[in-house]
Amino acid sequence: MADTAHFTPRVFSGIQPSGNLHLGNYLGALKRFSDAQNNGIESIYCMVDLHAITVWQNPEDLRRATRELCAGFIASGIDPEKSILINQSQVPEHAQLAWIFNCVARMGWMQRMTQWKDKAGKNQQNASLGLFAYPSLMAADILIYHATHVPVGEDQKQHLELTRDIAAKFNHDYGVDFFPLTEPVIEGAATRVMSLRDGSKKMSKSDPSDMSRINLTDDADAIASKIRKARTDPDALPSEVEGLKDRAEARNLVSIYAALADQEISAVLAEVGGKPFSEFKPMLADLAVAKLSPISTEMTRLMQTPDEIDRILGNGAARARAIAAPILAKTYDIVGMIKS
Ligand code: TYM
Repeated sequence: MADTAHFTPRVFSGIQPSGNLHLGNYLGALKRFSDAQNNGIESIYCMVDLHAITVWQNPEDLRRATRELCAGFIASGIDPEKSILINQSQVPEHAQLAWIFNCVARMGWMQRMTQWKDKAGKNQQNASLGLFAYPSLMAADILIYHATHVPVGEDQKQHLELTRDIAAKFNHDYGVDFFPLTEPVIEGAATRVMSLRDGSKKMSKSDPSDMSRINLTDDADAIASKIRKARTDPDALPSEVEGLKDRAEARNLVSIYAALADQEISAVLAEVGGKPFSEFKPMLADLAVAKLSPISTEMTRLMQTPDEIDRILGNGAARARAIAAPILAKTYDIVGMIKS
């Protein structure tokens, strides 16, 4: 089976421009992209606007959210000269490969996706066809670059397994060793940041309560107030990781602290074990403000020059197409399409 061993290492990841970026996106994705930037591996980061429209988006809001997301990438430390920053619809090869993958993937595979079940809910008949085919476009995003590594939060694991299934079935059906079986990279202290109001629910932009999440655009007062009001249990913090078992809210806040401070959870507990939340929450709030405020200030500054953002995305698209076009041409050839 084709693993990734004989493919040139290449990183790809994507984020939907469908509303506010939050702390989960930052710790599960953006911060990790920027931490990995100097490892010398070619990296492509994508605003997935075609994925965003699988549910209704107001056109002007989508354009703004796409530029704001680009500003979020740059403000989080992604250098558009070192990495390639793109907007999905500006690289048409993604959608072209997705069609081929729609003919490889099976209905049953898609029906098993928990994100499909969660998002379509009880009203599947009324969901868009795009929402159902969402993971096939995601596989195309990754495989159009022969990406070998995909850093994501834990919630994307199932989609990445499906990406491997699509690659394996394509390779098998056509008798080739063409697409790599991409590795998910789900690492760090905060691969699943939970809601501040309910430790059993993921922090998410679709949660109706704004108090459940910290947005990257929140000011210092909002961040401090959301952390102060975050749900916790009455006990003091434990000094060992095992002490966080069955304490979802405590685990979440300690994980957030560890990820923001670039420390292990055990090292944080060695420092704060025994403290009540009334002491730990202000420490966390100060740390979060210190790390997030510069990002939000930089995002606001970058948003004042949307032309510059568009120039960066245009440049990224040209660089990305130089990689994607030959891979699409070879895919068409394998499938039996006439060369133009
Ligand atoms: P999206 O836009 O929902 O989220 C973007 C990234 O943020 C991570 N994330 C979290 N990490 C930790 N805790 C959380 N509460 C949390 N919420 C979100 C996600 O895991 C993700 O890494 N389908 C993808 C976008 C996509 C993509 C791709 C990703 C499209 N094509 C190809 C990788 C490769 C999505 O909806 O992510």
